[in-house]
Order: sequence, then C-alpha cells, then structure tokens
Amino acid sequence: MKAAMITGIDRIELTTIPDPTPRPRDVVIQVVATGICGTDLHILEGEFAPSLPVVPGHEFAGRVVEIGADVTEVAVGDAVAVDPSLYCFECYYCQRGQANLCERWNAIGITEPGGAAEFARAPVGNCFKLPDGLDVATAALVEPLACAVRGFDVLPLKLGTNYLIYGAGTMGLMMMELAKRAGAIDVSVVDLNPARLETARLLGCTAAVTSSAEVERARGWDVVIDCTGVPAAIEDGLRQVGRGGTFLQFGVSGEHALASFEPFKVYNREITITGSMAILNSFERARDLFVAGAIRPDVMISESFALDEYADAVKQFRAGVGRKLIITPN
Ligand SMILES: NC(=O)c1ccc[n+]([C@@H]2O[C@H](COP(=O)([O-])OP(=O)(O)OC[C@H]3O[C@@H](n4cnc5c(N)ncnc54)[C@H](O)[C@@H]3O)[C@@H](O)[C@H]2O)c1
Ligand SMILES: [Zn+2]
Ligand SMILES: [Zn+2]
Repeated sequence: MKAAMITGIDRIELTTIPDPTPRPRDVVIQVVATGICGTDLHILEGEFAPSLPVVPGHEFAGRVVEIGADVTEVAVGDAVAVDPSLYCFECYYCQRGQANLCERWNAIGITEPGGAAEFARAPVGNCFKLPDGLDVATAALVEPLACAVRGFDVLPLKLGTNYLIYGAGTMGLMMMELAKRAGAIDVSVVDLNPARLETARLLGCTAAVTSSAEVERARGWDVVIDCTGVPAAIEDGLRQVGRGGTFLQFGVSGEHALASFEPFKVYNREITITGSMAILNSFERARDLFVAGAIRPDVMISESFALDEYADAVKQFRAGVGRKLIITPN
C-alpha cells in the first residue's frame, strides 16, 4: 500500500509498504480521511514520537476491510472512527485508571503506523462505529474532539461559567463549541490570525480578539484554556485567570519551552493550573457528541488532500492557512 512516512526531522516521503495484517483482535481499516494536527508537526520536529520513521496520522476514520480471527464486534464494511491510544493496561498509571499517562503509552500514528496510508490496523477495542448516512471523512474529527472532551473532564463544570480560549485552530474552536454546550455565559477567543478569528465568529462566540486586553474582565476569567502551546499566550493567559479560577494547559509546547507565572497570584487567588493529555475514556462520548452535531464539520474541515500531497498539506497547516486539513488516501 501507499503510505506517507516521516523519515527524519522535516522529512516526509511517500513510500510503498506491506499492507497491514490483523492480529486476532485487530481490524484493518481502509482509511477514508486522516486529519493533520499540531502533534504531527511536533513529530516532524523530532519531538513526541520516540523514534522515526513512522507513518503519521492519529486522527482517522474509515471502513473495516478485514477482521482478525477473534473479532465479533465489527464487520467488514462497517464505518469506524479510531481511538489511536494504545495503553499497556499493566503499569502503575493504567492500574490507577489514568491510562492516558501510561508508562508505556503508545499510539497509532505516533509509535505505530497511522492513517496517512491507504490502510491502517487497529485493535477492535479502539474502533468506534459510525452510523449509516454519516460522511465518514468528517469523522476524522472525532479524535481531536475526544481530546477536547478529556480537557473538559479536568475542568470544573458549572453553568454560567466564563471561558477565555487562546488559539482558534481546530482545538480552540472545539473547546469553544464544548464550552457553549457546557453552559458557558461567555466564551471569548484570542488568536493572532484574523482568518481563524473569523471562523470563531462564524461558529458563534462572545468575542474573537487579537489581544486579551480587548476583552478584559475586572474579576478575571473563571476558566482560561491554552490551545496554542505558545509561551507568550500561556503567560498572558495565566494572568487573566480570576480568583478561584482554573487554567488548562491543553496546547503542546516544545518539550523544553519555559513559561513564567506569578506564584503569589496562584496562591492568593487560589488558582488551579491543570493539564490534559490526549484521550481518557472520552472517545465514545466524542463520537456521540459528533453524531449529535456538537461541532460543524463543514466549517472545521477546510480542505482535503490526496496522500501524495501530504507534505503540501503539512506545509499549508504550518503556515496557518485554512482550518482542519484532511488527507483522503483512497
Ligand atoms: N492536550 C491534548 O490532548 C492535545 C490534543 C490535540 C492537540 N493539542 C495541541 O493543541 C494545540 C492546538 O492545536 P490545533 O490543531 O488547534 O493547532 P493550530 O496550530 O491549528 O492552532 C493554534 C492557534 O494558536 C494561534 N496562536 C499562536 N500564537 C498565539 C498567541 N501568542 N496568542 C494567541 N493565539 C496564538 C495560532 O494563530 C493558531 O490559530 C497544539 O499545541 C496541539 O499540539 C493538544
Ligand atoms: Zn491530533
Ligand atoms: Zn500502562
């Protein structure tokens, strides 16, 4: 099969590799669409993936074309979205119900071949069926939505909360949509990219601005979410959290990036700083929210590319042009 492969730092090659074969509890999926996200850029920068080469693509959906000998839950022809997380189920964190922090955490598209290929293999337990009539390509959005749902799992949920979100990329926009569903009274978004802010307005937010100064609240914000990973945004965001408020570090910074904050304010205002990493028991809820229309794929997905255009898609994503870019390998 054809596959895009990250072979080294900033090196993407289109190659031919053997078709995947299922182990007893695996399925093979013909990939309909794979999303590109910030994590793929980190892999290209030599971070996040423990070793290269790897076939990227951790956000994908497709149709089952082959099932392992012991699979009964899905059948050939079923449309599925795939949770890429591969936990060991044995380590200290897995045993404590924190499998996303697994000491041997692996993921399809990061440590195992992913969806930037004609076919991909996944354990059946990672496959979540999609209803008939749903455009399977759009379901590449379920994986990032599952990360956003996990983000909300670590936040205090209260009706009438105000949210300030940094970054209006796919993740920031999904956080915005979920915040509205979670009973927000105000969801405002900060980004430097005017086109992205325009999308936030189109989807509906309280304000979409280039600087937090434009939406200053005398008492600060209940919840501030970083969806940029950029230290300047993180530092600014931490300063906007009000008394008793929470800051969620969702964006992925460079592994050695530093951001500073004022410990006095964290103490004095009883601020909670928390993080959220990938997916934990949130994929099925994300699938259900997606099917229920919680996000608008027609707005979220701005373009699709052929597999042999993977490098072009990455280049465009890096330039911040468009929104969620998907690869349609077949
Ligand atoms: N925690 C998780 O589980 C998880 C899951 C998926 C993605 N992520 C991370 O979330 C982040 C967002 O993902 P994405 O796909 O939306 O990325 P993206 O690159 O599409 O969006 C990031 C946005 O941040 C904006 N930005 C950059 N600097 C800024 C600044 N100083 N102030 C305000 N806005 C600024 C950019 O203009 C861009 O629109 C990435 O870091 C990604 O790696 C985390
Ligand atoms: Zn992703
Ligand atoms: Zn584990």
